[in-house]
Amino acid sequence: MELRIEPGDITEQSVDAIVNAANSTLLGGGGVDGAIHRRGGPEILAECRRLRETELPDGLPAGQAIATTAGRLSARWVIHTVGPVYAKTIDHSETLASCYRESLRVAARLGARSVAFPAISAGVYGWPMDDAARIAVQTCREMTAKVGPDAGPVTSVVFIPFSDTAARAFHKALEG
Ligand code: APR
Repeated sequence: MELRIEPGDITEQSVDAIVNAANSTLLGGGGVDGAIHRRGGPEILAECRRLRETELPDGLPAGQAIATTAGRLSARWVIHTVGPVYAKTIDHSETLASCYRESLRVAARLGARSVAFPAISAGVYGWPMDDAARIAVQTCREMTAKVGPDAGPVTSVVFIPFSDTAARAFHKALEG
């Protein structure tokens, strides 16, 4: 599995699946979530609402992931995950790592070959960027070492930093 960094807007990525840093309601928000729903159109929200009415009446817990259509985006799927809100006093790193792991598992089940990630939790949810990037890279690297259904057909993971700070953090995490 190849890991790379492609600064820019995740909604413009030509990959099989893009990951959304959503909230538990799955009903939209600001940041990357807002951008994905705006550019992807109402089909994505309609499918999120259906998921809430069927398998997720209480919403999607932090650390888990679920896929919908990508609507008008060039990706085939949006994989929604919910990052933890950063807290100084409680370590939620494992939940953040779980977002990457579960998203890659969903991607593998879908048959996606390429997946793009934003810096989950590093915006509204307040996670310090260097640490968020380190967890992202480390977790995806660990998944690349796996074989079988966990790694599945995913051959390319792309991190999409949306600022210079984020780009520096991801380069540091990837290249040391
Ligand atoms: N492409 C790539 N990255 C983006 C984009 C975009 N179009 N827009 C924002 N980002 C970046 C932000 O700069 C940040 O580094 O994504 C990272 C994650 O930020 P948020 O979108 O705020 O996500 P998060 O911190 O996980 O907070 C989730 O925000 O909008 C709400 O519904 C969402 O309540 C949830 C919360």
